[in-house]
Amino acid sequence: MQSFTHITVEGGGPLEGTVPVGGAKNSVLKLMAATLLAEGRYVLSNVPRITDVDLMSELLRATGCTVARDGLLLTIDVPSEIEPVAPYEIVEQFRASIVVMGPMLARCGEARVALPGGDDFGPRPIDMHVRGLQELGVEFETAHGYIHARTGNLQGARVLLEFPSVGATENLLMAAVRAKGITVIDNAAREPEIADLCELLNKMGARIVGAGSSTLTIDGVDSTDALHAATHTVIPDRIEAATYLCAVGISGGEITVAGARHEHMTMLCQKLGEMGMRISHDREGIWALANRRMMSTDCQSLPYPGIATDFKPFLVTMLASSDGVGIVTENLFSGRFRYVDELRRMGADIRTDSHHAIIRGVGKLSGAPVRAHDIRAGAALVIAGLAAEGETVVSDAEHIARGYDDIAGKLNGIGGKVSYR
Ligand code: EPU
Repeated sequence: MQSFTHITVEGGGPLEGTVPVGGAKNSVLKLMAATLLAEGRYVLSNVPRITDVDLMSELLRATGCTVARDGLLLTIDVPSEIEPVAPYEIVEQFRASIVVMGPMLARCGEARVALPGGDDFGPRPIDMHVRGLQELGVEFETAHGYIHARTGNLQGARVLLEFPSVGATENLLMAAVRAKGITVIDNAAREPEIADLCELLNKMGARIVGAGSSTLTIDGVDSTDALHAATHTVIPDRIEAATYLCAVGISGGEITVAGARHEHMTMLCQKLGEMGMRISHDREGIWALANRRMMSTDCQSLPYPGIATDFKPFLVTMLASSDGVGIVTENLFSGRFRYVDELRRMGADIRTDSHHAIIRGVGKLSGAPVRAHDIRAGAALVIAGLAAEGETVVSDAEHIARGYDDIAGKLNGIGGKVSYR
């Protein structure tokens, strides 16, 4: 377990070397939830040592599972009966916990899940999860801060999502795996983490086709015995990989992000190319060179394969010290510009107007005490500090530990000067 509240960064020179990318947070959390679908021993490998995995482990334990970690291996023993409850004390700490609802309904016909908390960026409703599950025959009641979902029999149905929500797609997928008949999810999210989840579910005996596309077809298996435990390796974290690529864009230098998969982040690499970086890739990972000042560009966050909302704080940070003016538009989360105030404290010239940020590049950022409001915003401030004049101290840095396995160690491995406190 990583335990720190502050990260200190000394501004310095270019970055150089190879940095390894860990397993994807947004995949492993859902893979862990999927284990609730069937009894047995699951072994997940390439599991990052991050707080959110610890929290999901606690949540699985609360249902009756045994969870043990050995390095990057996580072994989950799921008993023949589970308690379909996700308690408030755990759920309030991370929003991803909502995805236990689908598998609990599939396994037990009910789920009691505390209303989710998580990152501090605007209201994040779950209406699409609820509407989709209602189509499969689930009834909902909300009382005392808990959602109580119940179903006599999950029935396959055609569900058209209003927006390709990642979490709603995952909850529906995991419920539909045990529904009677065929479920079709239209306008499904296409993120690589969803395809990873489909792969594990199919290994467990599910019958899902269309993984990675916007139409998922699930032929439900309606007996408990039809599903079984499996082993699986978590895909690399494209958001962590993006953090290091943008770090080199800000600081200059030449790095290889070992294990990163270019096909999961093509649009971002294209954008970094437009800004002046050279990027190439092979089976080992992604290579990046930044040997000049970056040029500004405009970009907007969109569902996959667009530029992920999670990449945006890194791009805004890069633009803060690029040549020219860039406009960045946030299309997914309303409150996701809070880190801009922190970047301004470091000398950035950024104006926000509703869901747009207008960034005028300045010569060099200046190290300052700043606060991490969420995982990605926190990581963006750390990489801002790498190229700033003097020292940057990021407080509330425990947010960063939710999604990064030793960010300081990894950045130091490529020439950064980063420490925990
Ligand atoms: N939305 C609704 N109703 C719903 C569901 C979503 O209005 O029922 C809205 C949300 O409020 C948001 C948008 O739809 O405005 C997108 O939400 P989505 O459901 O796609 O996101 P999520 O499942 O809550 C995951 C990641 C986020 C990532 C988003 C978008 C996990 C644990 N979280 O969230 O990652 O930003 O998809 O790609 O997978 C992070 O890693 O730091 C992180 C926040």
